[in-house]
Amino acid sequence: MSATLRSTADVIAAEEAHTSGLYTKRGIVLVRGDGATVYDSEGREYIDCVGGQGMANIGHGNAAVADAIAQQARTLASCTELFYNDRRAELYDVLARILPPSLDRFFLCNSGTEAVEGALKFARAATTRTGIVAAMRGFHGKTMGALSATWGPEYRDLFGPLVPDFSHVPFNKPEALDAAITDRTAAFIVELVQGEGGVRPATHEFAEEAARLCAERGALLIVDEVQTGFGRTGTLFAIEQYGIVPDILCLAKSIAGGMPMGAIAFSRKIGDLAKRSHSTTFGGNPLACAAAIAAIGEILRQDLARNARDRGAQLQDGLRAIGSDRIREVRGVGLLVGVELKENAAGALRALQDDGVLALGAGPTVVRYLPPLVITDRQIDRVIAASTKALG
Ligand SMILES: Cc1ncc(COP(=O)(O)O)c(C=O)c1O
Repeated sequence: MSATLRSTADVIAAEEAHTSGLYTKRGIVLVRGDGATVYDSEGREYIDCVGGQGMANIGHGNAAVADAIAQQARTLASCTELFYNDRRAELYDVLARILPPSLDRFFLCNSGTEAVEGALKFARAATTRTGIVAAMRGFHGKTMGALSATWGPEYRDLFGPLVPDFSHVPFNKPEALDAAITDRTAAFIVELVQGEGGVRPATHEFAEEAARLCAERGALLIVDEVQTGFGRTGTLFAIEQYGIVPDILCLAKSIAGGMPMGAIAFSRKIGDLAKRSHSTTFGGNPLACAAAIAAIGEILRQDLARNARDRGAQLQDGLRAIGSDRIREVRGVGLLVGVELKENAAGALRALQDDGVLALGAGPTVVRYLPPLVITDRQIDRVIAASTKALG
């Protein structure tokens, strides 16, 4: 706890005095984390299945990332893209090694929505077309361009008119793609597992048909792996499981071990982008790059994609075994797991928290589990036990 704010009530009062009010807070003050565990200001411990909403894949308090950040902060924290930089060059190398060979150009930014925003601009510039097709229930961020691709009316309705020439097709209906992706389409943007939209994996047929139609009609395929990337779904990237290679891939969340960073990986098909047509002051700063190099190094060294696969299967099996009338469906890929209830999920989320497990919603009726990929089998057992009580 900070020196001036001594009690839990002090912290809550100070936040409440100044908060934007945009977030629904859970009533506890988190002050420390270790692996898949977080601690509140009263010393209470929780298994963290919120996982920083997907940015904590390597777990809390990772020493290699902390050391890399501290070392780089002492060396050179900022260096804009007006200059070359050793850390940025090293990160490009790392990304090129772990991504499909055709995705070998990168634009570094600071968040997921910014990665999507840039991807949409690159697609329009490269194709000289304006149409963007996205999927119903898709989530791509909340800045004006990304929001125009995001589906949820609860996010969009206050802010219209949004960017023109965006349309939405039903998710997992391949037969709907033929009429939507045309020779006026700049890009089709899609999540391979819809996260915010309720933890809904795309069918292979839907993803393959989208890739085929984009290639046939000269539209670009943008895959948004902001939430699914960096081991979450049991492979380093979900595209590996679908056997498709997009023209543009959006990354963020866990790329830099919790430091703010986003990235757009794109193919040579994009062509030369006009100088200064897109940029960001913070993008590619050496501090975030050093964190990303260390975080990706940890994901590979600990084979966290494999742990996501194994622990994800354990979690899904345990949740299915609850067999409650309140549960409509358990679904997910790797450690992106959702339980759809026949009721609002808020009560279950509160009951889980009271029992020492933090989980997320995904739409009104889905309890979403997004733990750090370092979570152990014993911790998963505890999550299953708490869920059996809360959802059974
Ligand atoms: C698939 C997807 N795309 C984009 C975003 C936006 O990322 P950010 O919140 O970093 O702007 C999110 C955030 O949840 C996401 O899940």
